[in-house]
Amino acid sequence: MKGIILHGGHGTRLRPLTHAGPKQLLPIANKPMSQYALEDLREAGIKEIAVILGDVYPEKVKEFYGDGTKFGVKISYVYQDRPKGISHAIRLCKEFIGSDRFVVFLGDNILRTGLVDYTKKFQDSKADAMILLCEVDDPSRFGIAELDGKKIKKIMEKPKNPPSNLAVIGVYFLTPKIFDIIDKLKPSWRGELEITEALQLLMESGNVIEYDTVTGWWKDTGTPEDILHANQLVLDSIGTPQQFQVNDWSEVRGNIIVGKNTTISRDSFITGPAIIGENCTVGPAVRLGPYVSVGNHVTIKKCDVENSIIMEGAKIDAKIHLVDSIIAHQSEIEDHSHPKKHQFLLGERSQIRL
Ligand code: DAU
Repeated sequence: MKGIILHGGHGTRLRPLTHAGPKQLLPIANKPMSQYALEDLREAGIKEIAVILGDVYPEKVKEFYGDGTKFGVKISYVYQDRPKGISHAIRLCKEFIGSDRFVVFLGDNILRTGLVDYTKKFQDSKADAMILLCEVDDPSRFGIAELDGKKIKKIMEKPKNPPSNLAVIGVYFLTPKIFDIIDKLKPSWRGELEITEALQLLMESGNVIEYDTVTGWWKDTGTPEDILHANQLVLDSIGTPQQFQVNDWSEVRGNIIVGKNTTISRDSFITGPAIIGENCTVGPAVRLGPYVSVGNHVTIKKCDVENSIIMEGAKIDAKIHLVDSIIAHQSEIEDHSHPKKHQFLLGERSQIRL
């Protein structure tokens, strides 16, 4: 089997975080979110992977993943000029897929259980496609499946009046039959070739689509709130059997991971779960956690930080209490002596709540 990871799109709901790179490279517990997809594919034995690149800094994706050797997979890059839809992106991979069965993984989806069992189920079945369903509270945000007993009756994209709360998650098990179906699609109301329409048409053409339900959590990281929630969910797995991989240099203390050459002052206090990268300076007088991820080369002084993501190279030197925050690479927060005056240098769509 082969794999496809979607790394395109514009990530508009995540601006300003996506002004400097694709959303799928934003870190969740210090790892780009698309790396979770790549590792899930690899663990399921899928090592030939096409990565769909969009027009938001595609070179950053190539720089990070290279030819895949570092990650134990072989990567081919496929360019999509504009985000014309998930089905459009899949269609671009027809040659790469050839006659193989394959898995498509949206690079902004994270799945707790991985893909090993689902992949085996699809390999053993004769189905023309398999989708994964997950119960959600807000079904109008997702592709939705309506069931009739144990069979799928209908698959639709973000319905206004959802007939069920079963979201079709962003992992699709497919066969090359889907390519001819995609050729028949017309752009939807949002101007995209929808994957849900392709699946519906595949079914209407007499093909069999199976489904499985997701056990454990699944997260689509479309908004900043989703990213912070995904960060919580992943950090909660520190110290569990399915703990995500820590590099060789990191030290695990209970549910706290600390990278090499990181110093934490004696008067600072860390509450797990938390992850702190390499070459960081934490302290003096810092209270950090729970649910905080700190990238490499970060300096944090004098502040309290809770439920937040602080990316590589950021510097916070201020007596503030930071909650539910995402601080991107190389950002700086400093306080100067005047308590009522603040100086800001903010990128487009920045958000500050004082
Ligand atoms: O997360 C699951 C949902 O993903 C499904 O329930 C929906 O049926 C499916 O349409 C999709 O909905 P979204 O509106 O969340 O899709 P989004 O536009 O965020 O794109 C999903 C990922 O695919 C994202 O990582 C960007 C990438 N992408 C998207 C498009 C439209 C591409 O690489 N190329 C594209 O043309």
